[in-house]
Amino acid sequence: MATAAAHETARTQAYGTGDATDTTGTDAYETAFDAAVAADERIEPRDWMPDAYRSTLIRQIAQHAHSEIIGMQPEANWITRAPSLRRKAILMAKVQDEAGHGLYLYSAAETLGTSRDELLDKLHTGRQKYSSIFNYPTLTWADVGAIGWLVDGAAITNQVPLCRCSYGPYARAMVRICKEESFHQRQGYELLLALGRGTPEQHAMAQDAVDRWWWPSLMMFGPPDDESPHSAQSMAWKIKRHSNDELRQRFVDICVPQAESLGLTLPDPDLRWNEERGHHDFGVIDWAEFWDVLKGNGPCNEQRMTQRRRAHDEGAWVREAAAAYAAKHSGGRQTGETGETGATRA
Ligand SMILES: [Fe+2]
Ligand SMILES: [Fe+2]
Repeated sequence: MATAAAHETARTQAYGTGDATDTTGTDAYETAFDAAVAADERIEPRDWMPDAYRSTLIRQIAQHAHSEIIGMQPEANWITRAPSLRRKAILMAKVQDEAGHGLYLYSAAETLGTSRDELLDKLHTGRQKYSSIFNYPTLTWADVGAIGWLVDGAAITNQVPLCRCSYGPYARAMVRICKEESFHQRQGYELLLALGRGTPEQHAMAQDAVDRWWWPSLMMFGPPDDESPHSAQSMAWKIKRHSNDELRQRFVDICVPQAESLGLTLPDPDLRWNEERGHHDFGVIDWAEFWDVLKGNGPCNEQRMTQRRRAHDEGAWVREAAAAYAAKHSGGRQTGETGETGATRA
């Protein structure tokens, strides 16, 4: 607490009570920023922050937001063909959750001084990325299970430490997102369990889906630590708390006993417990495939982007109507108008 109190004094001295946008006395601002990060405090939107910290966060949060909304596509592919009303209702709720995650994250990015329009434009023109995992196709119903178990599972492993990220709005968005992701992971596991215990054909379908999704889900943690040059800075800023390889190892260790319970095999002949390390060893990841998909050559890159741009264009009238509505009501507020359709609804 003493550290926090000392920092609070430094912060007040450096920031004063106004906007910390004045660049004079940057050293004092930087000291306060470093002290806040060292004391595990949250950096908030009005606090001074290094430009590189801001741009790193914008890039990371935007990529995360884009992944949430692009990730709706492969699963939405199965909504009309879900095998029962129960499964359909669950899948619809899950896909809707992902849209919500996108909204929280675009809002978090906006607190850093960018706009959702700008971020979507960067996505649509290929200047910002989304997670490569969503460039793989969902070929059978079992893929919905494999995505929930492995892709949402990998996302949780990545995202739980982000709940302690140094940037307040991102950390707070992640708390709610992680709670929902945990449901997603369980629905995938439960779906695969049902198929695994079903007919031999259903079991084979579940195994085939896991065979196709296992390696891409390991790639979700990003390149190996020695090829991930920005990781060290992100960890120093406490945006990231663990390295890519640490998180990947954690995920493998979690999945192995779960695969056993499911009665499914993970498609890696080199996967085995290493007593000495206290972790599972696993095979070599095909990084050439990772970079190729990232460059745009995955099976569904083009389809995902075409669909995203089409959805955006088709939603133009909604954005125009929302803007007209907001303009009408902000006009009401300026004239002091309140009441049923007035400023209280803004
Ligand atoms: Fe999500
Ligand atoms: Fe999810």
